[in-house]
Amino acid sequence: MIPQPLMSEERRVLIVDDDRDFCESLCDLLALRDYGVVFALNASDAERMIRQLPCDVVLIDQRLGSESNGVDLIPVLQSNQPGIVTIMVTAYASINTAIGALKEGAYDYLRKPLHPDDLFATLSRAFEKIALQREKEAAEAELAQRNRQLTGTNAELKAEIAKRRQLEQELRSLNAELDQRVQHRTIELRNANKELEAFTYSVAHDLRAPLRTIDSFSKILLTDYAEQLDDSGRHFLDRTRIAAIHMANIISDLHKLSRISLQHIHGETVDLSSLAKDVVEALVATGTATPEVTIHENLRTHGDRGLIRVALENLFSNARKYTSGNDTARIELGCQKQAGQRTFFVRDNGVGFDMRYAAKLFEPFERLHSDAEFEGTGIGLAIVDRIVQKHGGKVWAEGEIDAGAVFYFTLPEAP
Ligand SMILES: Nc1ncnc2c1ncn2[C@@H]1O[C@H](COP(=O)(O)OP(=O)(O)O)[C@@H](O)[C@H]1O
Ligand SMILES: [Mg+2]
Repeated sequence: MIPQPLMSEERRVLIVDDDRDFCESLCDLLALRDYGVVFALNASDAERMIRQLPCDVVLIDQRLGSESNGVDLIPVLQSNQPGIVTIMVTAYASINTAIGALKEGAYDYLRKPLHPDDLFATLSRAFEKIALQREKEAAEAELAQRNRQLTGTNAELKAEIAKRRQLEQELRSLNAELDQRVQHRTIELRNANKELEAFTYSVAHDLRAPLRTIDSFSKILLTDYAEQLDDSGRHFLDRTRIAAIHMANIISDLHKLSRISLQHIHGETVDLSSLAKDVVEALVATGTATPEVTIHENLRTHGDRGLIRVALENLFSNARKYTSGNDTARIELGCQKQAGQRTFFVRDNGVGFDMRYAAKLFEPFERLHSDAEFEGTGIGLAIVDRIVQKHGGKVWAEGEIDAGAVFYFTLPEAP
């Protein structure tokens, strides 16, 4: 059986033989099997033709005329068209001729006279080899292409990794710098705090002694020298004593304020309702007027009980102070949602204040009422502000002149 050709597309064959009749009949035979065939009668024609029209397979007569050996044509054709498959055709087949042809790169050889079965079988094998070769080349080309892509991707990845490394390095050095700065600032802050502590300590202790002297000498003057003083003399001495007491209060409040900044928070669940009741009880015991106080039940928070107590003391004592002129003073501690946040409030129906200065109230020494109207040092709300801030909360106020005031504050939720 004659093997079927592998490729249905044109399979090109070049016949190189000095016998024109042989060439023409071979052409006819091959054309019957759909081969595209051309022939050349000598070596130089064959070379020229291969340059003009590349062929897949060349059948070369071993004896091309008297002067030319077909074997010599193999390297010439292969240099013109690498991969071309050559088949030697010889009338004088010997083992040496075959070896010589194969050594020069011939794919196979056929013996004259050609037998069609042998011819077609050999050609089929040759085209099969070509097809395999082409498949191999295509696969190699694809592999090379993939390799190139991979090399490209690899290079991109390497560049990306290098970039990331550099960024990481930058980040690390930035972090280190930041750490160093934080450490530096912490030391500075610690030193500043120590200085502040020393300063407030000396203010609190050293200033109190001369104040006590002023107070006690004024008292001696008032008691032991009362007869030598007239009314206005006594009045001035009274005012001296009141001023000394006021200054002592300021010093003590300032001291409290500075202590709060340095104090650490001991967090626990705090029952704000019962703490407020304690505060109010203690406060009412020190005064004459008894305001109407409403404290909502079950108000709970998480924080430092001692500090929160100080904040409540300040808010309630303000509420009482600034309602002291009312016939019926009302104070209320409650809780409500404000902008989605649980917010406590202390509300009173006292003298209120001008809303324009609402933010100022929390700064030390800022007072909206004079000493003649209401006594005070102007430190209380600054203390409240610091305590709430220390708990991560905030405090703000709303008021209207002669229509009361509300102080809002947020504190952490109890777990
Ligand atoms: N409940 C309140 N009603 C009206 N004004 C208030 C109230 N609480 C505080 N203020 C105003 O805020 C100022 C600052 O308060 P605070 O710091 O406690 O100082 P002090 O009570 O010693 O004056 C007060 O002088 C007063 O003008
Ligand atoms: Mg106050």
